[in-house]
Amino acid sequence: MRHVAAQTRPVAGMDIGSLSTETVVLQGDRVLGSSLLPTGADPRRAAERSLEAALEKAGLCRSHLAMLVATGYGRVSAPRADERVTEITCHARGARRLLPGVGTVIDIGGQDSKVIRLDPSGRVADFVMNDRCAAGTGRFLEVMARALEVPLEELGSLGLSAPRGLPISSLCTVFAESEVVSLLAQGHPRPEIIRGLHESIAQRIQGMAERVGLAPPVLMSGGVANNRGVVEALKARLRVDIAVPPEPQMVGALGAALLAAEMAEERGSGGGGRTR
Ligand SMILES: Nc1ncnc2c1ncn2[C@@H]1O[C@H](COP(=O)(O)OP(=O)(O)OP(=O)(O)O)[C@@H](O)[C@H]1O
Ligand SMILES: [Mg+2]
Repeated sequence: MRHVAAQTRPVAGMDIGSLSTETVVLQGDRVLGSSLLPTGADPRRAAERSLEAALEKAGLCRSHLAMLVATGYGRVSAPRADERVTEITCHARGARRLLPGVGTVIDIGGQDSKVIRLDPSGRVADFVMNDRCAAGTGRFLEVMARALEVPLEELGSLGLSAPRGLPISSLCTVFAESEVVSLLAQGHPRPEIIRGLHESIAQRIQGMAERVGLAPPVLMSGGVANNRGVVEALKARLRVDIAVPPEPQMVGALGAALLAAEMAEERGSGGGGRTR
């Protein structure tokens, strides 16, 4: 049988978010398999299913992995993980791989949003996180899509089709939803309301970005990066170009897998664990 050195064995990273769970299986520079599934009500089960799906695509089983690193709010629910690392570290690490020299990461997920600034060596210099309130998160857009009776996936193109955005004055999701319902009742076109909602998210992120200091180039991660309307609103507000990777929801899991590879290498060469 072929001898496989410890540092070349496959590793995996898993991001258990409030809405979606992703796993990336990596060997060296190559992604062998990945999966993206809804987290649902049972993060422990989501973690199991996500790992199995990614391993199946890679044609591997758990015992082949040299290291599994879990991240995301549900990382405590990954009993088969060797290490747990914060989302900030993982998103920064994944972004660095996708956009070398990245200065800022904007991650907008289901229940929180973060702006992370990296120093020139790629380490996290500062970050700010909004996890207190749904405004400025994917949840906000989900509530509004329901109120507007528009599929979530169509918000982006509808918002972009509007010549202008209607200002949404409420910062709170519940009040903003009532505002949207009354704008609809007054006969305002949906696209203009949607564009206004995207602009209100951009305004909230701008406040966060000002606190950490925005350093280009900027990469956006998390599911809301799939919404081109939000991305364009952010570009206009922040006056900066924003790179969106083809699979923005995978950035945290990719970062976790890259950290797993580093840890496996350290341990393979006699190094101990590291607290991050
Ligand atoms: N195709 C899409 N079009 C528009 N929005 C999308 C799309 N896919 C996902 N989203 C948005 O992404 C959000 C989920 O993002 P993501 O999967 O990054 O969250 P999460 O990592 O589970 O959450 P968190 O990091 O807050 O715990 C949804 O709330 C939704 O608004
Ligand atoms: Mg997330």
